[in-house]
Amino acid sequence: MTAPVVPHFAPLSDADARTLGSVAQDLLDQLARVTDEPGQVARTYLSPAHARSIDLVGAWMRMRGLATRVDAVATLSGRREADIAPETAKTLLLGSHIDTVLDAGKLDGCLGVVAALLAVEEIDRLGVKLPFAVEILAFGDEEGVRFPTALSSSSAVTGTYRREWLEVRDRDGRSLGDALADFGCDTDRIEDACIDPAGVLGFLEVHIEQGPLLEHWGLPLGVVTSIAGQSRFSFSLQGVAGHAGTVPMDLRRDALTGLAEMALTVERIGRQGTSGLVATVGRVEVKPGAGNTVPGRVEATLDVRAGADAPRLVAIDRIRHEAERIAARRGLGFELHRHIDVPTCPMDEALQEAFARSVASLGLDVRRLPSGAGHDAMAMARAFPAAMLFVRSKDGISHNPKEWSSPDDIGLGIEALTRTILDLAERHGGGTT
Ligand code: GLV
Ligand code: MN
Ligand code: MN
Repeated sequence: MTAPVVPHFAPLSDADARTLGSVAQDLLDQLARVTDEPGQVARTYLSPAHARSIDLVGAWMRMRGLATRVDAVATLSGRREADIAPETAKTLLLGSHIDTVLDAGKLDGCLGVVAALLAVEEIDRLGVKLPFAVEILAFGDEEGVRFPTALSSSSAVTGTYRREWLEVRDRDGRSLGDALADFGCDTDRIEDACIDPAGVLGFLEVHIEQGPLLEHWGLPLGVVTSIAGQSRFSFSLQGVAGHAGTVPMDLRRDALTGLAEMALTVERIGRQGTSGLVATVGRVEVKPGAGNTVPGRVEATLDVRAGADAPRLVAIDRIRHEAERIAARRGLGFELHRHIDVPTCPMDEALQEAFARSVASLGLDVRRLPSGAGHDAMAMARAFPAAMLFVRSKDGISHNPKEWSSPDDIGLGIEALTRTILDLAERHGGGTT
């Protein structure tokens, strides 16, 4: 007679949550030390530190009995086969990303990979028989920092990779296609990275909230309802470089002052929007970039997001229109390229309920919240049922070395993920010891 696992669903003691969270923090600290910038966390897509992080996380996966592989866009995966009818069993996908922004914190993305690893370890420790395989994915291109292609690695898994992305270039002029080849990836095989949705139960991602709501509510965990849509652009302004001492003010075609006016316009349009509209000029490169030269060219980025699609699309039209007017008035050439356009993405209702049951089983209030940040789950949702669980962030800070969540909250997040997997196992005819 096999015993169902549900009776062990009881509130977790504070000490147990803290212990689990401390184990996770130790792994997160080790991963944070794998960086391209000494003294900072910086691990962009296909960098030397990205390669070393794949080695490290891959070793952690193999130590836990997972079979690892790296696909044609450098996503690392670790697979645990089903215990019951493995030949016909479906797969539950877990994970998040191991790339980071520049001067990042330790948690964004990496928590979802570490939480998945420790949840699988806990299931093995309990000796539970799973009626599905579990595959942990560690994506490499979520942030879109090195190349203007956020979510490209999760897009490959869903068969929505766009081959024209291989032509985009980093700041050094290296194309994504060449960078993948240098990394040892075979770009002729990107289609092989696609996972057949027919064999997938869903995708679960644990992530820090990166905002202040859970802290405001006094809750460690929250179930995500939807992810804000996002559009990302690069744009350039072409003026005329000239001598800062000789070109009179009224004869200048200064690309940087044009950019400054545009950035203020972006801010004004962002403030006027609804549904949590936000609009950001996040990177600016001034050329030639000398103190005694009128800036001749500026290259910059634009990021526009909202909790609903219409306000985002209206804002983009307004920004484009105003930017063209500013450029024409100042005699500047203006080019705008859209690299990313991901609609607002609702999370799967049934998987939200599974997360909610687990959070409730921990004796916690279940609160739901939308995500303003983008996540791999929004690319995964194109092909699979996808859901996210947020862990409270201290002061709502993220994309910043001060990013922090307490070991207690991290431990609760891992336990909630573990219980969600067990809950799904029972509903699929397994989950016994
Ligand atoms: C990812 O962190 C994003 O939302 O930009
Ligand atoms: Mn993230
Ligand atoms: Mn991020």
